[in-house]
Amino acid sequence: MALARRAFITGGAHTTYLGKGHPDFIWKRHPDFGTRENPTLEETLQEAVDGCLADTGVDPQQVDRLYIGNFVGELFVNQGHLGAALAGTHPAFSGKPSARLEGACASGGLALLAGLDAIAAGADLVLVAGVEIQTTASARIGGDYLARAAHYRRQRALDDFTFPALFARRIRAYGEKYGLSDEDLAHFAVKAYANANRNPLAHMHAKKCSFEHAATPGDRNPQFLGNVELRPYMKVTDCSQVSDGASCLLLASEAGVAKLGRTLADTVEVAGRGHAVDSLYTDGDFTELRMVRAATHQALADASISAGDLDVAEVHDCFTVAELMSYEAIGLAAPGQGAALARDGATAIDGRIPVNTGGGLVGFGHPVGATGVKQPLEIFRQMKGLCGDYQVKQPMSWGITSNMGGDDKTVVSCVLRNQT
Ligand code: CAA
Repeated sequence: MALARRAFITGGAHTTYLGKGHPDFIWKRHPDFGTRENPTLEETLQEAVDGCLADTGVDPQQVDRLYIGNFVGELFVNQGHLGAALAGTHPAFSGKPSARLEGACASGGLALLAGLDAIAAGADLVLVAGVEIQTTASARIGGDYLARAAHYRRQRALDDFTFPALFARRIRAYGEKYGLSDEDLAHFAVKAYANANRNPLAHMHAKKCSFEHAATPGDRNPQFLGNVELRPYMKVTDCSQVSDGASCLLLASEAGVAKLGRTLADTVEVAGRGHAVDSLYTDGDFTELRMVRAATHQALADASISAGDLDVAEVHDCFTVAELMSYEAIGLAAPGQGAALARDGATAIDGRIPVNTGGGLVGFGHPVGATGVKQPLEIFRQMKGLCGDYQVKQPMSWGITSNMGGDDKTVVSCVLRNQT
């Protein structure tokens, strides 16, 4: 469904995405342990909002509405009611409409859609944020919290790490249909870490990942699932990170862009969008991402382009196999051919269609509620030449995002068009 009014991304900011493996992350063997603590949800959100206000130069008083994506603040940090937390980030926001959206790992994408609806309905400036703090619990306890994005009653018993197990099941099914090796998946992990090594905000900025390491299960790259049938299909390097972080961007109508004292050439247009949701209670074909296909194809149709027109993409690589299947769902690769695209380097920063240039969920990190806001902001930053060491060199006209909640259950996609 085309928007009744055009909507533009005008800028924004990410915090550093922090967690285990990042040099600034405080844990028991960190030299600052006991003297300094990791940032709280309040501090993380504040930093992203302050960064967005500074980057866009918006007068906070002129912001019409605010939306925030967050999945399980109640479980990780005992904090819900985050619409009010977002309103608390600046005195000028007091009294304005502000609300939280939740759709598991697509919470940020839903906040973006709400912002686009607000622009279509007449708002000129809308602030969209996403935040998650997850490192307050061990990965195993966090696995239980994140399992709320699956059908808990039916799927929780699959493994303590429910989501890694759900995607191990996909790796097994895809391999049985098309063939899939540890080496095939290693190409995705190596690309993610290599891109993150060039991105100073990435969770895995300082952590190297060689092809041999990613392709070799063992003590250094454990198959950590308890479920013995699924254990051989999932290694640590195939997983996204348990990260803390926030991202925030500012949407504007054409009038809103003028209020900022900017021109359309400073912006990236949200030229198409898609939103597809499947039943929580049933499983589909494990070898494809049907909702990713539906949402991305809606967004492409909305923008009147096809997958072949895309210059850059941000896809939801919660696990390496999800990036592979996203290529096929979007139409960047034919069914069964997703691995070849990564192996040939087509999706590397200097490739034909760079994907997840800042490291994706595996390398940049995955603070769940922030990811769907991070993705469009990353494409904005690429199109405007703001990505420093991980800047794509060729000019980019069209980009796509794909933000997935649950195991292909809630998917939000945007097609973005650079304004020049
Ligand atoms: N051999 C065997 N097992 C080992 C091992 C080894 N050498 N080393 C560790 N393990 C096992 C242990 O059992 C350990 O658990 P316990 O310590 O509780 O016994 C377990 O692996 C985890 O070890 P760590 O805590 O040391 O691992 P970590 O902190 O480095 O975490 C990870 C690694 C478990 C892969 C973690 O990064 C993770 O859970 N990632 C996935 C996060 C996730 O699922 N996010 C959601 C994605 S899904 C999505 O996006 C959609 C949605 O809506 C949710």
